[in-house]
Amino acid sequence: MKYLLAIGFMATLLIYCAPAADESTSAGRDGWLSGTTDEKFETITEHLGGFGKAMLEVNLRYIEMFWAGEDENWDYAAYQLEELEEAIEDGLQRRPARASSAEHFVTVVIPEMEAAIETRNKDNFDRAFELFTTQCNSCHAMENVAFIRIQPPKVRTGSVFFK
Ligand code: HEC
Repeated sequence: MKYLLAIGFMATLLIYCAPAADESTSAGRDGWLSGTTDEKFETITEHLGGFGKAMLEVNLRYIEMFWAGEDENWDYAAYQLEELEEAIEDGLQRRPARASSAEHFVTVVIPEMEAAIETRNKDNFDRAFELFTTQCNSCHAMENVAFIRIQPPKVRTGSVFFK
């Protein structure tokens, strides 16, 4: 009986303490989010961005992967490729309309690059990286952004060095 009472008390407490899902108008921790919960989600979604924001991350990881290969820092190259793949997946979750153009890249191009990195051989890496770059550009052509023409970086700006 004591237990039942305790459970009843806890349940009542939970009901009273649970925030009303759509009525909350508190401005968030830093005071810039306003409106209902739905409106706040909308604001955050806008800030998070679509595929373009994902591409900024993809680009950074592409560049870092290139220099990792130049350094023969194979673990770092593998790490960057994995993060690059995750960034594309997140981008596709936000913009599923891009999925058909991305399919070849995700199912063929990334695994081939991964296999080349696993050989820990610079010639294999360089060959695979050239193909990889071509495939960035072929997706850009499919998506009508061919003016975003990717080439391996010429100047090193990162902070991770291995040699
Ligand atoms: C799904 C096909 C697809 C693949 C694969 C792809 N991209 Fe993109 N990329 C796009 C699209 C679409 C945009 C334009 C995004 C937008 O709508 O704002 C873009 C934009 C970009 C931009 C410009 C970002 C900005 O807003 O300044 C860069 C840089 C970029 N991609 C690099 C790459 C690199 C590097 C690769 C290969 C590792 C790659 N992309 C692979 C579709 C792709």
